[in-house]
Amino acid sequence: MTEGKLIVALLIIIRLGHPKIQEGAEPVSSEEVRSREIQRLIDDMVETMRDAHGVGIAAPQVHVSKQIIVIEVSPENPRYPNHPAVPLLVLLNPTITDHAETTEAGWEGCLSVPDLRGLVPRWTRLSVSGLDRRGQAVRLDAEGFFARVLQHEVDHLHGRVFLDRLPDLKTLTHLREYELFWKS
Ligand code: NI
Repeated sequence: MTEGKLIVALLIIIRLGHPKIQEGAEPVSSEEVRSREIQRLIDDMVETMRDAHGVGIAAPQVHVSKQIIVIEVSPENPRYPNHPAVPLLVLLNPTITDHAETTEAGWEGCLSVPDLRGLVPRWTRLSVSGLDRRGQAVRLDAEGFFARVLQHEVDHLHGRVFLDRLPDLKTLTHLREYELFWKS
C-alpha cells in the first residue's frame, strides 16, 4: 500500500426542489469528525466545489445532512471574479456568534440554484465558531465577500437558500442577463 491522498470523486450537486435542500443538517460529533467517511466527504466536497467553480459548498448540497461547509475564493474564479482571496476553509458545525448590525447588498448565486443571481443583504462582518477537519475548535472573523459566503453556506445547513433572503424578487436575474445588464 502506498501512502497518500485517496482518489477523490466529484459529487452530484442537488438543486432547488430536492427536499434535502430545505432540510436542516445535523452537527458532526467529535468522534465522527476524524472518520474515514467524513474525511473522504470533505475531500470530495472540495473537489466538487472547485470543479463547479463555486466559492463554497455545504454538505446538504451533495445529499449529506451534516453540518459541513467548505469555502475557497480565488480572484480568478470565473463565477465570482475579483474578490479578495480566501484560502481553503473547512468548517464543521459552524455557528455565527457575533455580527455587525450593518448589512450590505451583494450579488449571489448558488450551485443548487443554477443560472440565477439575486441581490442579497448580508451582515458586513461576523464571527464564526466551529470545528476544523481535525476536530479542533476554531473561531474566525470575516468581512466583505468572505462574510457573505459564510452566511450563504451556513444558511444551507439550516435549509435556506439565497432566494429566502431576497428582499426584492425584482433583482432576480438569469446569469446571461446579469452579465449584460447588472454586472459592475
Ligand atoms: Ni449555495
